[in-house]
Amino acid sequence: MKSKVIDGKAIAAKIKKEIAAEVAAMIDNDVKAPHLVAVIVGDDAASQTYVTSKENACRSVGITSSVYRLESAATEKELLEMVQFLNHDPDVDGFIVQLPLPDHIDTDKIIQAIDPKKDVDGFHPENAGRMMLGLPSYHAATPFGIMELLRRSKIEVTGKHVVVLGRSNIVGTPLSVMLSRKAAGADATVTLCHSRTANLKAITLQADILVAAIGKCGFVTADMVKPGAVVVDVGIHRVEDASKEKGYHLAGDVDYKQVFEKVAHITPVPGGVGPMTIVSLLQNTLAAAKHSIYQE
Ligand code: GUN
Repeated sequence: MKSKVIDGKAIAAKIKKEIAAEVAAMIDNDVKAPHLVAVIVGDDAASQTYVTSKENACRSVGITSSVYRLESAATEKELLEMVQFLNHDPDVDGFIVQLPLPDHIDTDKIIQAIDPKKDVDGFHPENAGRMMLGLPSYHAATPFGIMELLRRSKIEVTGKHVVVLGRSNIVGTPLSVMLSRKAAGADATVTLCHSRTANLKAITLQADILVAAIGKCGFVTADMVKPGAVVVDVGIHRVEDASKEKGYHLAGDVDYKQVFEKVAHITPVPGGVGPMTIVSLLQNTLAAAKHSIYQE
């Protein structure tokens, strides 16, 4: 029987083992290990944490990782020069520029400067467009991870009504496209809701699968969820908590305790979508090293 809690951590660990085996085979065949670079500008605490997690994940599967740092006062030109350097460095298979960037830097300009062949975040318009058309491309890590989480948890998606809350370029919009494509593990009917959606609750109550990616802690309450639905929580928030050593605990966009009682399956925070996002980045990096998306 499928368990009620979708264990993203365990599924991610299994995928990591598969990636580690592929990397080991490359090295056995005298092919260099894949190399991922993360660029970080400034000292945003959450970004530092994410990048450290990405480095640790790379290390655990044998992928080489490097971090290039620029101080928060770095100019757009300096960052563009770093992007060009990485585009042309043959030792680097893929790289990401950690977001958010400081306000004085035009994020779209930076993303568009990345060579699509090395854009393992899948954020470049060429990759986003190719994904929408069903052509080979790097898929953005979080929606890619959610698709894999549903597939490996054997959650039926075909013909289901999936309601996605949030229309960001990184999660909600690409996920709505991936879910609605004519493909195995997709073929869903998707409703994309956002801050201007009228009668939100009437829509979420129709969801066979409800994905919360709106960035508001505890936004989805039990009265918004159909009994027996599947709930995927993309949110991650620090909630002050004096009982914890760190002074906070993590919570998602879903009021987990309440909603848990009503649903068939739910992803926890932490340990649900988060680990899958990092694994998707590893999968993209491996694909970059193998030239399996863009053949040269
Ligand atoms: N910031 C939050 N999520 C992401 C991500 O997936 N990639 C990058 N580059 N920055 C992020």
